[in-house]
Amino acid sequence: MISLNPAIVAIDGPAASGKSTIGYQLAQTLGFLFFDTGVMYRAVTWVALDRRIDMADGDALGRLAQAIRLDIRPPGQTDQDGRQCTVLADGEDITWKIRLGEVDRNVSLVSAVGEVRRALSLQQRRIGLHYGSGEAELTGIVMVGRDIGTVVLPAAGLKIYLDASPEERARRRFTELQQRGKDADLEQIYRDIIRRDRQDSERALSPLRAAADATVVDTTSLTPEQVVETLLDLVYD
Ligand code: C5P
Repeated sequence: MISLNPAIVAIDGPAASGKSTIGYQLAQTLGFLFFDTGVMYRAVTWVALDRRIDMADGDALGRLAQAIRLDIRPPGQTDQDGRQCTVLADGEDITWKIRLGEVDRNVSLVSAVGEVRRALSLQQRRIGLHYGSGEAELTGIVMVGRDIGTVVLPAAGLKIYLDASPEERARRRFTELQQRGKDADLEQIYRDIIRRDRQDSERALSPLRAAADATVVDTTSLTPEQVVETLLDLVYD
């Protein structure tokens, strides 16, 4: 059993492996804060697209990541629209904009830039250590991303690497979009996922991989409830 007060649970894995769904449910069950670090990379990407910054201009993207004020908060009373958290960039609510296909297609370019990673990892580490210190209002944090267990918080008490076949991950994303009433093309989603996997795992800085001491959970044929049960078993083992 891991120490639960305070606790840091790190969940990494490829696109659409279920990290957010599972991490959110796990955090709710344990009474921890849920922090999806991907939203920070998505937020910088959205603002860069909005300001027509060239995706090949690493310096400009790095400057943007340092200058922009990102706030991630639990959803308020007035925004109960299925969101897990509210994302503000310089005060503007961009919670749903960061889920657009255009952001999906460009986020791996932005997250491969050293200055962007440095700026965002620093903020993520600070938040993680605050909740993992026992001094925050909640006793722990579940952080999900690509490099939490390897780079951002290698001292996390529990490290999980969630995986699933690309076909299954594309199906999940497709269903999710359909449920939100969005147009979705399964083939296109599959191709985007394969491309993002490649970009995230082949980049030089903090590439996507399981930490040596992470527990790998293949969720391809598991329901979300079964995955949460598996993780709770690891927490209380
Ligand atoms: O998890 P999600 O799909 O929202 O993440 C969006 C992108 O942000 C990933 O494809 C990856 O390029 C980047 N990311 C990252 N490191 C993290 C979290 C996300 O590089 N810790």
